[in-house]
Amino acid sequence: MAYGEDGVVETLVHFIGGTSVQPESGDFLDKSDPRTGRVISRVARGTAKDVDAAAEAAFAAWAEWRDRRPIERGRVLLDIARAMRAKVAELAEIEIREAGKPNWQGPIEIEGAAQYFEFYGGLVNLPHGEIIDLGANYHSYTRREPFGVVGVILPWNAPLNQAARAIAPALAAGNVVVAKPSEETSGSLLLLARIAVECGLPPGVLNVVLGAGKEAGQAIVQHPRVRKVAFTGSVRAGREIGQIAAERIIPLTLELGGKSPNIVFDDADLGAAVPGALRAFALNAGQICLAGTRLLVQESIQDKFVESLTKAVAATKVGPEPDAIVGAITTRAQYERVLSYFEAARAEGARATTGGEPYSDPALKQGWFVPPTVYVDATPDMRIAREEVFGPVVTVLPFKDEEDAIRIANDTDYGLAAGIWTRDLSRAHRVAARLEAGQIYVNEYQAGGVETPLGGYKNSGYGREKGIEALHHYSQLKCITIKL
Ligand code: NAI
Repeated sequence: MAYGEDGVVETLVHFIGGTSVQPESGDFLDKSDPRTGRVISRVARGTAKDVDAAAEAAFAAWAEWRDRRPIERGRVLLDIARAMRAKVAELAEIEIREAGKPNWQGPIEIEGAAQYFEFYGGLVNLPHGEIIDLGANYHSYTRREPFGVVGVILPWNAPLNQAARAIAPALAAGNVVVAKPSEETSGSLLLLARIAVECGLPPGVLNVVLGAGKEAGQAIVQHPRVRKVAFTGSVRAGREIGQIAAERIIPLTLELGGKSPNIVFDDADLGAAVPGALRAFALNAGQICLAGTRLLVQESIQDKFVESLTKAVAATKVGPEPDAIVGAITTRAQYERVLSYFEAARAEGARATTGGEPYSDPALKQGWFVPPTVYVDATPDMRIAREEVFGPVVTVLPFKDEEDAIRIANDTDYGLAAGIWTRDLSRAHRVAARLEAGQIYVNEYQAGGVETPLGGYKNSGYGREKGIEALHHYSQLKCITIKL
């Protein structure tokens, strides 16, 4: 029998200093399969003591890892990428069970996670210093140096992908890591940490502490050994972490939520824009910070566009079956939150062209499945047009012209991503320059890869992950000047 099968309840404990460690509290949190609601694991409830053990183990391992020749660090990261690919089925299965992802999506996310180790494994020599000319009497130069212990706090929507996104550049730059996965999705990162040690990562360089945000998460941000934190998750938790980081004066990368506009102009290729708009809001059951959940459609094509989109959405298979396109909402709390937006939309007078009601089918009702939903007759001030739902829900907002589209698109506290669909390249560049968001996608929503920097404007956060840019966030600059 395997993890998650009937009757099997796995026990997950911390991974500290290269070995499994029981929680000091002796307590565990129950974790359920989102597709059935059944308990599948008991997850160690980490406390400040466990975090302390992990941070000290990391610190003890730092000097050896930091002082290695970079290509030797890189070789380990490349080996980790290879080993992840060799174990793709096992890693994907954990995420399918813990996060409720559809079968097709699991391996794709693991491949994406492996690419971070591949990309940063190849970039280890990139962060380099410069020589600064002060004339003949001085020799001045800069060095890029790691921070030491980096805390990584992760959400549940793309567990291993988001973990690799922060851990791979942190390790490449010569840091050591204490990572806390979400209490809902701990399994894949634990397996990755074991794989990493098998690939030659010295014990203690990557530690995984399990448990709740207010306890283990907060203790990571507060720990005196932790000199930098990367956080992905809600604005609420980001604010709380930001306050502690400000007090401790440590740098922070915050990758928070979004309410991203996806703008369809009347000259767009609708054959691409309709499935593109569906994917933008329904992929991963809408649990993506980048999701395009405000669909701005030019008035002249609105009716035609909504009709085609509604047909495509209604034909999208949702459920636990192997051929489903959309899986479950990962947590019960999030499931209830999404359903509460159906109520809010009804109360505010928006109309669902498809979805908008909880499922009544018993197979779907036993898990946390919600129907992909398209709202029309909505206004930009409604809650479904302003708040991050984090479920497969899109709100259609009509616009007149380019200026109107830019105004509506920017009328949000968030600024993570935006999509533009048009055949007019000049318009694409014009609009892209004026949208207040960290990434703009033209004619393919979520285009890009490990190479393209990611991060937010406004309440969506600060700092950048991915790409070469992220490496610079995991090192600090030292300037050395010598009087000759
Ligand atoms: P959350 O932000 O509470 O949890 C994310 C991670 O932070 C988890 O590991 C959690 O244990 C930890 N955490 C929570 N509070 C903390 C604190 N005070 N100090 C340190 N660590 C802390 O996310 P939650 O509550 O599960 O989801 C709520 C909403 O957040 C969603 O509805 C969605 O809008 C947004 N969200 C955004 C994500 C993104 O990718 N940007 C991912 C997950 C959620």
